[in-house]
Amino acid sequence: MTLRLALVGCGEHSRGSHAAPLARYAAEHPGEITLAAACDLDIARAEEFRRDFGFQRAYSSLQEMLGREQLDGCVSVMPVGRIGEVAATLLECRIPCVIEKPV
Ligand SMILES: NC(=O)c1ccc[n+]([C@@H]2O[C@H](COP(=O)([O-])OP(=O)(O)OC[C@H]3O[C@@H](n4cnc5c(N)ncnc54)[C@H](O)[C@@H]3O)[C@@H](O)[C@H]2O)c1
Repeated sequence: MTLRLALVGCGEHSRGSHAAPLARYAAEHPGEITLAAACDLDIARAEEFRRDFGFQRAYSSLQEMLGREQLDGCVSVMPVGRIGEVAATLLECRIPCVIEKPV
């Protein structure tokens, strides 16, 4: 069974420390994980992640992504001011998540 994963927050730290290793894992373990969706308020960034790392769909709204996708997990890489809000949303939806912290 493949795990359907999403990522919210397509900034610099997300690119190098989360999306790249996820894409490498997906390539090295075929069928184990599906990179279902990438989400960023800036849709161009989300689209770039979709293209660069092989996510299936791009979203500019977390609520829309959660409404449309069946997810087994989500990585959140938010600016400090948004960490709590986005984490609460994911937890309220009972989605197992990785919440990136500040350095
Ligand atoms: N643990 C570490 O070693 C380490 C290292 C660097 C950064 N960080 C942390 O990672 C986080 C991200 O840092 P960064 O440099 O990538 O920031 P960034 O500003 O480059 O990226 C954040 C992205 O989140 C998006 N975003 C903001 N609110 C959103 C929302 N509600 N829904 C969807 N997208 C939203 C922004 O549009 C932006 O693209 C920060 O909390 C930072 O402290 C941790």
